[in-house]
Amino acid sequence: MKIVVAIGGSILLKEYDSTKFQEYSEVLKSLSKEHELFIVVGGGKPARDYIGLVRELGAGEAQCDDIGIEVTRINARILLSSLGDYAYHKIPQNFQEAEEYSAYGKIIVMGGTEPGHSTDAVSAILADYVQADKLINLTSVDGMFDKDPNKYKDAKLIKEITADGIMELISGKENKAGTYEIFDMTAIQMIKRSSLETIIANGFEVENLKKAIDGEDIGTKIIS
Ligand code: UTP
Repeated sequence: MKIVVAIGGSILLKEYDSTKFQEYSEVLKSLSKEHELFIVVGGGKPARDYIGLVRELGAGEAQCDDIGIEVTRINARILLSSLGDYAYHKIPQNFQEAEEYSAYGKIIVMGGTEPGHSTDAVSAILADYVQADKLINLTSVDGMFDKDPNKYKDAKLIKEITADGIMELISGKENKAGTYEIFDMTAIQMIKRSSLETIIANGFEVENLKKAIDGEDIGTKIIS
């Protein structure tokens, strides 16, 4: 299968050490023997910290986004270095390059592309662009909840939801650099437009990636 995987920066860099990079590297190497993989890496806390700094210095939102994109690309390079020869050695700066580099038959690792959205959107656009079979979004919670699980103890995990249902949930949420809470609107619009099979799952459990690929019942499935 051709699979696009978004890994949140909050997963890879929660502890500021190499543990999660190493764990993902092992799983990805093994999965790449059977599947064509495209990995999109998020910015996490370092991106938010740096965005905060430039915002304090008076930068506009799009400039803040640009700083965020640079951080996602640094994170992508860190993952790339752990994958060695299993991955293509360059970070695509856009979707065309991602497709071009994939011709070498190796894992493709990238970060952000342009201002105005998060890496969730990048992964959704990329999945459409390369006509992936599945999009797997690995995040810091178990999937999509009816309200923020970090704030509300009674938040319920949604097992299945349509793209329209997610749009309703996220409408009115903040849309500034470094502040996308769950999915951003661009991501969900892309998923809707392409009827892409999408799974949102907890990325702290590295094994969840394999489970999501194998179609096991984990996280949230976005249905068309
Ligand atoms: P993330 O995709 O990591 O954003 O990109 P996020 O969802 O806020 O954070 P985590 O990783 O899931 O916790 C970091 C920031 O970089 C900019 C945005 O400002 C985003 O919030 N960015 C990223 C872009 O502007 N364009 C991109 O293509 C990617």
